[in-house]
Amino acid sequence: MTAQPTPADKFSFGLWTVGWQARDPFGDATRAALDPVEAVHKLAELGAYGITFHDDDLIPFGSDDASRDQHIARFRKALTETGLVVPMVTTNLFNHPVFKDGGFTSNDRDVRRYALRKVLRNIDLAAELGARTFVMWGGREGSEYDLAKDIRAALDRYREGVDLLASYVLDQGYDLRFAIEPKPNEPRGDILLPTVGHALAFIASLEHSDMVGLNPEVGHEQMAGLNFAHGIAQALWQGKLFHIDLNGQRGIKYDQDLVFGHGDLLNAFALVDLLENGGPGGAPAYDGPRHFDYKPSRTEDYTGVWASAAANMRTYLLLKERAAAFRADPEVQAALAASKVSELSTPTLNPGETYTDLLADRSAFEELDVDAVAGRGFGFVHLNQLAVEHLLGAR
Ligand code: GCO
Ligand code: MN
Ligand code: MN
Repeated sequence: MTAQPTPADKFSFGLWTVGWQARDPFGDATRAALDPVEAVHKLAELGAYGITFHDDDLIPFGSDDASRDQHIARFRKALTETGLVVPMVTTNLFNHPVFKDGGFTSNDRDVRRYALRKVLRNIDLAAELGARTFVMWGGREGSEYDLAKDIRAALDRYREGVDLLASYVLDQGYDLRFAIEPKPNEPRGDILLPTVGHALAFIASLEHSDMVGLNPEVGHEQMAGLNFAHGIAQALWQGKLFHIDLNGQRGIKYDQDLVFGHGDLLNAFALVDLLENGGPGGAPAYDGPRHFDYKPSRTEDYTGVWASAAANMRTYLLLKERAAAFRADPEVQAALAASKVSELSTPTLNPGETYTDLLADRSAFEELDVDAVAGRGFGFVHLNQLAVEHLLGAR
């Protein structure tokens, strides 16, 4: 198997992923802190092309200006030494106790103003480092108690915040777009903009909606019992797939952030096939970073951390290989045709046909042998079995 990542594959990792010290609600850290400079070097060695971070991952919260500059300078040096880039930056509006009721949507107005200032400063840093995407994950924007949050007012404040940040980016002339990351719950009992669909509807209401898209995460849709590949297809269909967080999740439970493919592997196969082969003429449907937002499990030492980082990339590449073999297989092509998969691309009406013409077409209704049509099988199970066999390396 080739499956050796190179920067051309555009794999990126959050600094908070490999740097997670594995503190959870029930236990202390199991790993020592990771120096961001070491993370840059290690990820470059493993074949990644990018690294992303929250402001506080790189610059500890509360640092004075001089030490802030120092942290940034060390990090920049490592980037120059390795050629790693920073395609995306995001802001931590969830860790400090001040954000316990949210950032943009805290009931406390002082907190909202502070949150906006924190993000504005971080946008400058993102632009300085050449990032093109600014992710907004509102993990604390939500509630535990229905009567404690006026949801319509919260959405007004969310929109006010995003509109302000977008006009700031425009006024500064930064080449930066926003990507909202939906999540249904955790850490809040219920988070605002819980799914891809909610976020798309919210984005449509924004002043600069063209600058705002999505950063969907595999596990977050799956925590809500939703089909991630479907969500991504709709995000692409709406021109809103600005970024993507790849990881693994096993069913409706707490956010596992497993290695990509270590959850619903068949759905991961469909996802990679969509991203890599779902464009016009079988071209990639998405050309942005393949960003891994996972947590190396608490059981792992640093050897395990780096093995898990490599595993994300290797799994993605293996799925890409398997998807190409699937698409090239004549039996799969015959099965796709038998299942009429491409017939769905033919518009339901003929060119220029109107509903009057349709009403006049007796073959569409009065003369259609409905029982004969109902009796036709689609052969979807055979098609899916071929996918499973390719996935298992049996074909
Ligand atoms: C999660 C989220 C976060 C965000 C990240 C970006 O697992 O709940 O993925 O990790 O992606 O904080 O702001
Ligand atoms: Mn997650
Ligand atoms: Mn994420």
